[in-house]
Amino acid sequence: MKKILILSAFAIITFSCADKKAKTPGVDGRKVFKQNCVVCHGLDGKLGANGSKDLGVSKMSLDERKAIIKNGKGAMVGLGTLLKPDEIEAVAQYTLKLK
Ligand code: HEC
Repeated sequence: MKKILILSAFAIITFSCADKKAKTPGVDGRKVFKQNCVVCHGLDGKLGANGSKDLGVSKMSLDERKAIIKNGKGAMVGLGTLLKPDEIEAVAQYTLKLK
């Protein structure tokens, strides 16, 4: 029993360290996208639920994307109160890479 406890404590410590490491180089845009955007846009940006556009073919610039993510447009709710500016930046960058 003791052994199991020690092992699980070790696992928790290792896990939280790994998590911290992943966050150091800045925000993971893919993670933000997965948490906030896939319900309408889908994992690859092509789902198109609720009338959303295919993000892979969007010609919008980074700044236009950031503005829409922050303020919303049509059926898309603005996420400016939910996401931090660096998260908006990271997720906008991520949508630029979708094909
Ligand atoms: C509630 C559903 C919904 C969610 C959640 C959502 N979107 Fe949207 N998104 C839409 C809809 C609908 C449009 C089309 C708006 C219009 O043109 O009227 C859109 C448009 C966009 C556009 C503009 C595409 C173009 O070329 O017109 C971008 C970029 C975008 N969304 C990114 C995101 C990102 C990034 C997230 C997550 C942070 C997100 N969206 C979350 C529904 C959603």
